[in-house]
Amino acid sequence: MALGVFYAVWGLLLEVAIAFGPVPRITWEHREVQLIHFNESKVSNYSTLLLSEDKNVLYVGAREVIFALNAVNIAEKQHELHWKAAEDKRTKCAVKGKSEQTECRNYVRVLQQLNDTFLYVCGTNAFQPTCDYVNLTSFELGGKNEDGKGRCPFDPAQSYTSVMVDEELYSGTSYNFLGSEPIISRHSHQSPLRTEYAIPWLNEPNFVFADVIRADQNSTDGEDDKIYFFFTEVSVEYECIGKLMIPRIARVCKRDQGGLRILQKKWTSFLKARLICTIPDKNLIFNVINDVFILKSPTLKEPVIYGVFTPQLNNVGLSAVCAYSLSTVEEVFSKGKYMQSAIVEQAHTKWVRYNGEIPNPRPGACINNEAGGSSYMSSLNLPDKTLQFVRDHPLMDDSVTPMGDRPRLVKQDVKYTQIVVDRVRALNGTMYDVMFIGTDRGAVHKAISYESGMHIIEETQFFPDFEPVQTLLLSSKTGRKYLFAGSNSGVVQSPVAFCDKYTTCVDCVLARDPYCAWKPLEASCIDIFKEAEIGRNWIQNIGGDASSCSDKVRENPLQHTFKHGSTAELKCSQKSNLAQVVWKFKDDVLRVESPKYRLLEKALLIFNLSEGDSGVYQCLSEEKVKNKKFSQVLAKHVLELKKIQHTMVGPTAAAAPTEVNETVQASNCQQRQGKRFLALWEQNRNQEELTPTIQLVTL
Ligand SMILES: *[C@@H]1O[C@H](CO)[C@@H](O)[C@H](O)[C@H]1NC(C)=O
Ligand SMILES: *[C@@H]1O[C@H](CO)[C@@H](O)[C@H](O)[C@H]1NC(C)=O
Ligand SMILES: *[C@@H]1O[C@H](CO)[C@@H](O)[C@H](O)[C@H]1NC(C)=O
Ligand SMILES: *[C@@H]1O[C@H](CO)[C@@H](O)[C@H](O)[C@H]1NC(C)=O
Ligand SMILES: *[C@@H]1O[C@H](CO)[C@@H](O)[C@H](O)[C@H]1NC(C)=O
Ligand SMILES: *[C@@H]1O[C@H](CO)[C@@H](O)[C@H](O)[C@H]1NC(C)=O
Ligand SMILES: *[C@@H]1O[C@H](CO)[C@@H](O)[C@H](O)[C@H]1NC(C)=O
Ligand SMILES: *[C@@H]1O[C@H](CO)[C@@H](O)[C@H](O)[C@H]1NC(C)=O
Repeated sequence: MALGVFYAVWGLLLEVAIAFGPVPRITWEHREVQLIHFNESKVSNYSTLLLSEDKNVLYVGAREVIFALNAVNIAEKQHELHWKAAEDKRTKCAVKGKSEQTECRNYVRVLQQLNDTFLYVCGTNAFQPTCDYVNLTSFELGGKNEDGKGRCPFDPAQSYTSVMVDEELYSGTSYNFLGSEPIISRHSHQSPLRTEYAIPWLNEPNFVFADVIRADQNSTDGEDDKIYFFFTEVSVEYECIGKLMIPRIARVCKRDQGGLRILQKKWTSFLKARLICTIPDKNLIFNVINDVFILKSPTLKEPVIYGVFTPQLNNVGLSAVCAYSLSTVEEVFSKGKYMQSAIVEQAHTKWVRYNGEIPNPRPGACINNEAGGSSYMSSLNLPDKTLQFVRDHPLMDDSVTPMGDRPRLVKQDVKYTQIVVDRVRALNGTMYDVMFIGTDRGAVHKAISYESGMHIIEETQFFPDFEPVQTLLLSSKTGRKYLFAGSNSGVVQSPVAFCDKYTTCVDCVLARDPYCAWKPLEASCIDIFKEAEIGRNWIQNIGGDASSCSDKVRENPLQHTFKHGSTAELKCSQKSNLAQVVWKFKDDVLRVESPKYRLLEKALLIFNLSEGDSGVYQCLSEEKVKNKKFSQVLAKHVLELKKIQHTMVGPTAAAAPTEVNETVQASNCQQRQGKRFLALWEQNRNQEELTPTIQLVTL
């Protein structure tokens, strides 16, 4: 392993400052799309979400409250239960130096479906983590108050992750008040298990995700179900100045019972490896993992693990998504080399590849039919040699490399915090993995990647306050798919696509959104999964080729009559961030750089109007996809000059000409008083003939 290279590269990170990543094609502001909110006054930290697809319920764990919401419309609350930290506990917590108002509360951190009738929940409970059962019929706590140590952190600021597998809770968090003892454990009445408290096992980990991957039901080798954990920890294997963080994947086997003498009540199947997410030719290393989603789909041969990463020294604000195939992961754990620590001079340890003999059965392997023939039916009778070896060598030397050997997506100026992935069959039958990625500024990016590149379909502002997206879930029901996002201030529900926002065929196709297609008969952009059956003439092209569209050129140009010397504002709004706006006057491209014009985000201003300016103005949007240019007329204005003698025009003079449409007049009055015009007026007030106010008449 090239330790030197890795270290050098890490040091170089500061020097990289190249613009990276696709621009989201569309930016939806918070108010532009219909999102459903849930939040209650006096309740905060809606950080834990659990979706029950069969009951159509979204459970939300907030600070001292648990809610059950209708998953079709989360604004509809079905139940709530209060779970407060007791007064005496809060006092004790405050005595130990924690803030009584904030830290010494009960933050719900574990929210799992135990079985049909109960939820299993744990909260920090004023630094005395406690777990309980929620009766789903009455939506009440059972009052069991189990000690939640090892399942839930003491400190709400500490990391945590958990997954319920066959009524047993697997969790990764910290085990003590100070948060200094990390643990991955299984809570089970028969065989509770945990990690050894030792640096080679876990070294200041920050847990982000855990999930189960079931063994192939049809295989005859009796392979076990495996639980995977994802975290970033301080490296032991690289020597650096300061702490070098390493993203890890760790796994344990479901049938693990611990050892009999060695590793008693400890995992005998705990192994971990480094996850690689780098762009070697650009010297970029993404070594902090922020979230993971495991895509399991019947259309996939094997699950795919998607992770979002950021670099440790993120002064350039980069994020990346890397994807890993499960077989690559399994290969590393089942066939890879182990690492071992060697004492070099002055009791200094160094981790190197272990090249010696490996005991049999293979240390850390799950017990299956083949592993030890008939003699090892349980981890309890594994030989001491195997157990000793795995206790001392939990770290693999081989790393898990991403599919395609590079990230699926790299983006600058954003910090990705959460990810979920949907596998979608486009109209032509090709499958796309649509990634929904939450940012630390309250937005969600929807992206696809394909052979020749990456494309961010849209960026949607989920939270108006730009706070981090802390949890992201995706429901899997076809036709009624939603995203759910949790943050400190509330929960938001969003559809997976906003197809109906696209009003022309070209726009619908250029979106390159696998959920959307143009339906020529209705002249509308539809969500193909909401339709009963797929139409033959629907138009979709994920490659972005919109040449089969035949949008009608917009008729009914807007007519305006202006006064000599005045300023005209011709509206034209363009949503696509990838398109360019081009103005044409009498079919020639307008030189908007001339001082006579000013191109604003949503309009063109023409100053000092005279006879020569009357005529037809067209606003076109031109978007280039793979060297093909698609242009569409967004707006058409006809400008006419009118001689109005000595009319005092001002906000109140709106009533002047009889042909004026009152509604239009009123709304333009407001705009006229807007900031933009004030600024213009300021700029032009020395030019006497230029009147800042305009007369706008729609004929
Ligand atoms: C809380 O919900 C209301 C609608 O019920 C919404 O308008 C508001 O933006 C939400 N606040 C936050 C912080 O999400
Ligand atoms: C659910 O789990 C609880 C607690 O372990 C148990 O009492 C109950 O019988 C279980 N219910 C079902 C339907 O399995
Ligand atoms: C759950 O609550 C319902 C309604 O109060 C009650 O009838 C039922 O016995 C409870 N179940 C358990 C297992 O406590
Ligand atoms: C809880 O939310 C508040 C904002 O409402 C935030 O300042 C605080 O850091 C959050 N606490 C935790 C533990 O997430
Ligand atoms: C398992 O085998 C059955 C019958 O042979 C088949 O229908 C099913 O698709 C197989 N399942 C998997 C996961 O391969
Ligand atoms: C579907 O369309 C995409 C994008 O244009 C193309 O790359 C792919 O080959 C097409 N798939 C099929 C099955 O035609
Ligand atoms: C406005 O246009 C007239 C001719 O149409 C020209 O004489 C005058 O100088 C222009 N004023 C400004 C401020 O550009
Ligand atoms: C005035 O314009 C508005 C908006 O364009 C339209 O809804 C309304 O019917 C018009 N009224 C008249 C009297 O033309």
